[in-house]
Amino acid sequence: MTQVGVLGGSGTVGRIAVERLAGWEVGSLRVGGRDLDRAAEACTAATGVPAEPFRVDLDDDAALRDFCAGCDIVINCAGPSYRVLDRVARAALAGGAHYVDAAGDLVAIDALTAGGATGLDHHAAVFSAGLMPGLSGLLPRLLAVDGPLARLDVYVGGAAAIGPLSAVDALLTRGPRFGTALAAWRDGQIVPGALKPLRSVALPGFRDRVHAWPFLSTEMSRLAAELGVDELRNYTVYVTEAIPEALARAWADDEAALDAHVPAVVAAAGTDLAAAGPYYAMLFQTVPRDPAPGRARRLLLRTPDSYALSGVVAALTARELHEGTIPPGAHPASDVLSPSRTLTALRDDPLVTGVELS
Ligand SMILES: NC(=O)c1ccc[n+]([C@@H]2O[C@H](COP(=O)([O-])OP(=O)(O)OC[C@H]3O[C@@H](n4cnc5c(N)ncnc54)[C@H](OP(=O)(O)O)[C@@H]3O)[C@@H](O)[C@H]2O)c1
Repeated sequence: MTQVGVLGGSGTVGRIAVERLAGWEVGSLRVGGRDLDRAAEACTAATGVPAEPFRVDLDDDAALRDFCAGCDIVINCAGPSYRVLDRVARAALAGGAHYVDAAGDLVAIDALTAGGATGLDHHAAVFSAGLMPGLSGLLPRLLAVDGPLARLDVYVGGAAAIGPLSAVDALLTRGPRFGTALAAWRDGQIVPGALKPLRSVALPGFRDRVHAWPFLSTEMSRLAAELGVDELRNYTVYVTEAIPEALARAWADDEAALDAHVPAVVAAAGTDLAAAGPYYAMLFQTVPRDPAPGRARRLLLRTPDSYALSGVVAALTARELHEGTIPPGAHPASDVLSPSRTLTALRDDPLVTGVELS
């Protein structure tokens, strides 16, 4: 029987990954974290398959090695991801397992591949298996299957609780390996300062008026280059300006003081939740280069919980590894998941409250 280890399986993202893997009967589960009681509680949701709680601190080499031992697939939902980088991936590969990370991004892939990781000849390490990055780089491909795009506009956001650990990741999401604020992609290159924040705009799928902040992530630049899109605009959508203001204050401060801004980011997410209630939307709008009648131009996906849905994506990625559809090597999830299979799976998931392809 396949053995899947979910590190951080008692967290917001990891809990749902555990639930879905159990429901799909991918294999027996090992749920890891520092607090054994929380891990044991997460195991109780895994009905139908054997699930064992496992005490492990990812900063402890021996404990991490023991956690990975015997696993066929290790999923990492612990963090902060941009501090963990390739640490868990290396342990998983050294133990002979495939690896899935709900986050990680190109910085983690760089760290893993630059250091010459062993195990990638025979096993896969799949990063950014969440919503953003993740689905944000995967789903727009569905709108490009019938021909090239002149324009792709991406709006992802809403209101969600952000825990302290994820707040650290939000604060660390800056610098050229993550992306460029206010930039657009035009004619094969990044154009800095091309866009302005859209304040108080109405967008399909988003509640009331929202604020859309341009951020050309590296995920979007890669996608634009791969699809040959003439112009790509990528926006992170907020229901109030509390989060961008909290991030701006932190980034104006001394780098060493970053962690002191975590409570402000957590509180700002609380402000958004109070204003709009929990919801999240991913909106992709296109202008095809050669418009043909009947061609889909817009994809909209809605969920009440972006963190939980990231857990679903991580679990789906593990299921694909289990089914052997992902080749060995280090990849972003959007490069190796099938957009159509993934959307089909998401349509059936209770955490997806709407999918419109029109
Ligand atoms: N791609 C996306 O769209 C996306 C979306 C949401 C979140 N994420 C990422 O997913 C990750 C998890 O976020 P979350 O909100 O679910 O966090 P969370 O609720 O705080 O859960 C963290 C989990 O990791 C465990 N953990 C924390 N530190 C650990 C350590 N040193 N050793 C072992 N286990 C540890 C925690 O258990 P213990 O405290 O018991 O150790 C818990 O199970 C973050 O890196 C976040 O950035 C990605």
